[in-house]
Amino acid sequence: MCGIVGYLGVKESLPIILNGLKRLEYRGYDSAGVAVFNGSNIASCKSKGKISKLEKSLNKRKNLNGNIGIGHTRWATHGAPNNINAHPQFSNSNKICLVHNGIIENYSTIKQKLLKEGFSFKSETDTEVLVNLIEYVKIKENVKLGEAVQMALNQAIGAYAIAAIDSDKPDEIVVAKLGSPLCIGIGNNEYYIGSDVTPFIEFTKDVVYLKDGELAIIRSHKETIFRKISDDSLVSPTINKLEISLDKIEKQGFDHYMLKEIFEQPKAIKDTLRGRLNLSKGLIKLSGMDDFINKFLTTNKITIIACGTSWHSALIAEYMFEKIAKISVEVEYASEFRYRDPIINKNDIIIAISQSGETADTLAAIKLAKSKGAYIYGVCNVVGSSIARESNSGSYTHAGPEIGVASTKAFTTQMIILYLMAVKLSRAKGIISEKIFHKYLIEISSIDKKVLKTLALNNSIKKIAKKFKSSKNCLYLGRGYNFPIALEGALKLKEISYIHAEGYPAAEMKHGPIALIDKDMPTIVIATNKINYDKIVSNIQEIKSRKGKIIAIVSEGDIEVKKIADFVIEVPDSIESITPFITVIPLQLLSYHIAVMLDRDVDQPRNLAKSVTVE
Ligand code: AGP
Repeated sequence: MCGIVGYLGVKESLPIILNGLKRLEYRGYDSAGVAVFNGSNIASCKSKGKISKLEKSLNKRKNLNGNIGIGHTRWATHGAPNNINAHPQFSNSNKICLVHNGIIENYSTIKQKLLKEGFSFKSETDTEVLVNLIEYVKIKENVKLGEAVQMALNQAIGAYAIAAIDSDKPDEIVVAKLGSPLCIGIGNNEYYIGSDVTPFIEFTKDVVYLKDGELAIIRSHKETIFRKISDDSLVSPTINKLEISLDKIEKQGFDHYMLKEIFEQPKAIKDTLRGRLNLSKGLIKLSGMDDFINKFLTTNKITIIACGTSWHSALIAEYMFEKIAKISVEVEYASEFRYRDPIINKNDIIIAISQSGETADTLAAIKLAKSKGAYIYGVCNVVGSSIARESNSGSYTHAGPEIGVASTKAFTTQMIILYLMAVKLSRAKGIISEKIFHKYLIEISSIDKKVLKTLALNNSIKKIAKKFKSSKNCLYLGRGYNFPIALEGALKLKEISYIHAEGYPAAEMKHGPIALIDKDMPTIVIATNKINYDKIVSNIQEIKSRKGKIIAIVSEGDIEVKKIADFVIEVPDSIESITPFITVIPLQLLSYHIAVMLDRDVDQPRNLAKSVTVE
């Protein structure tokens, strides 16, 4: 997810663009850049890091004065975060300049075609391919920027929100949208562009939300033209009146980033699957694994290392790899692994899971393993992060920036990557037939819909939260795939509400924890299991007989548990290996609502940091 900004009007564009980029920093912040037509050409400035870094670079520049400009804050999908890959991206002639939010899926095919036409490329980005395709079309068809953008986009496959300027036509900005957001603020003889309205909310309340498949040629002193990308049909835009505060928009109407990110999970899951799961061809494409799959098929040992919530997704992976691919896996806390002098052999594989890609313990652990010859596979959410760069190969979760300290969408998208790896390896080993493999693909492709359906339980979960917000302790129980989810639910509650909570395998109750049970100790039991369902029912009965209160998460159609639990959360039914994606949702929402009711700082809980870069 990136942020794009633009301005065309009577004022100096640079300060407006910079301020707008700061408002969009929540959408991505690994690099940023601006470009302004200064009367003779398009001058630009780009920098790795946050907008504040860009501002420092700009202080040394004097030639960025002008009343038309565009800007971009990046969340990398293609190409590491650096000055070369930062946007705006220029065409070979340096006349056309483009900022882009989205993914051009067929960029490598287009790039090959342009290379044959004599184009060259500096960056690793799909955006530089698109801006050169626009230039190629503009020259070949002898058309202006608006038409060239339209023709180029009709050759592109993927999602985009773009803004382009051309020094041959420095009185217009061309914007277009498909799949990524883009809006136009209409002022008094001036126009503002933004991925959302936050860059210009103080300048105008009149906004056009460009629709998918639409393009606009924004021109100073002349009528702005809106038309369909697919043909020349004109579109008459709806001008909306803005009635929302800045703070609400940055959180897209949610009260906290954590709640926004919980509800972003269906989209994050779809974005993480995009280009990797091909149902029609029956394929799983993991570029970081495809070229090294033999390593995974011949290794003696796979160890997954991580911390916190990422360690919980590692535990889920252990069940997936062993049950589905029959591959033995060990799971380690990175902080323990790095100091216990582990046995590491040359052909060992280490899978390192980290949302931030900067966790000190995980980074140190993979450096140790690498020094002993192990192969490192990184599963990170931040492109170009230290753990990603230290890994031999890997897969990025495309969850987008996760601002809330409590990890939610990063967790579910980590499980998506691990699930794809397990199913792919199982097929490669011949453990599952083509038919079963295809069944898994169908199940995986439906996860986002099941998560969406579970999110609809939010209000009923909020009611349950109200009854337990004064608890001093809480127990979470689960079996099989739901044991790591019990751990994750407990972590969510304790880290944002400060209520002590513990997760346990349900069968462990009789080995001690049952001594804790009394009327003041609520127990959340994840009882969706088909396997060992009867045993879970008896665990609940043991707790009930000691006056413990039960919140049970059950599958749709459950009968037995619903008879005995005090509170029931009924989630969509699914095959065993899909349950973790579904059962974690009520636990995220329960902990969120309890924390809000206790007036906690949900997005930045006390004592915690989003990325633990120190030991
Ligand atoms: C989870 O909600 C916490 N924020 C924390 O446990 C986190 O998962 C842990 O610090 C690991 O972070 P990483 O995934 O960025 O490596």
